[in-house]
Amino acid sequence: MALEKVSNILKMAEERNTSAIAFNCNDYTMAYSVAAVAEELKKPVIIMLYPADSFQKNCCNLSGFAAMVRELAKKVKVPIGLHLDHCSDFDYILKAVKAGFPSVMYDGSMLSVEENITNTKRVADAAHAWGADVEAELGHVGFAAQSDQHREDLYTRPEVAAKFCEETGVDSVAVAIGSAHGVYLETPKLDLERLDEINEAVKTPLVLHGGSGIPNDQLEQAFKRGINKFNVGTEYFQLYYDSIREFCNQNGDRGSVLDLPMYVQEKLKAYLRVKMQISKL
Ligand code: 13P
Repeated sequence: MALEKVSNILKMAEERNTSAIAFNCNDYTMAYSVAAVAEELKKPVIIMLYPADSFQKNCCNLSGFAAMVRELAKKVKVPIGLHLDHCSDFDYILKAVKAGFPSVMYDGSMLSVEENITNTKRVADAAHAWGADVEAELGHVGFAAQSDQHREDLYTRPEVAAKFCEETGVDSVAVAIGSAHGVYLETPKLDLERLDEINEAVKTPLVLHGGSGIPNDQLEQAFKRGINKFNVGTEYFQLYYDSIREFCNQNGDRGSVLDLPMYVQEKLKAYLRVKMQISKL
């Protein structure tokens, strides 16, 4: 299939009262494994790229990554979405759209609400003119290493959410309800009552970031109560690097290095088969 619009995948999730899952990937092995398991389980999925993986760490380039995911999508019969994750740079977002990303996130969550609205609207207007979807963030999902998930001052305020969505025209909005990025020092506890209030206030699909390490029972609740896109990064990257380390420990000799990608892909697929089951898509 051709790449599916992320907004269409979120619509499917909304109709089934569940969430699509979006995985951060930065190379072929990670993206291929996601597409392969999506096909196996017959579930739509979203592949995301962190901009820093492209412009700082040189793992891939924007147009190369977009072309790769487009080719992966062509080979399967399930909808595959492609999304540029957290980006605060207007020019870079436009560059990504022009390079073939049909969905982007503008992250103005560290700004005042008014500045966030102004900048998000500017990005949404420009990206929409190119036919791309835009995700924004209201409230701020911080870092698990700093236990930011407890900081209610960073949480999304339901009374601001409707104004934010109306004035920016975004296609989805990430909310801060007790999750954080990275490895949690203690088990997070999502503020589901707040999620209900936000969901009541807005029609726009809601996104949950900081997905690694949130217990499944909480995720099931969150998916039923308005989350339509769920982002997972840390867990997936950790497994990727742990699998490489494991392979190297087991196979010291040079010849077997050619077997590394398939070894890692099998490990990633085993994880994905379990993780993707949380989505009822
Ligand atoms: P984790 O890395 O904590 O899973 O969060 C991923 C994320 O929210 C990407 O936007």
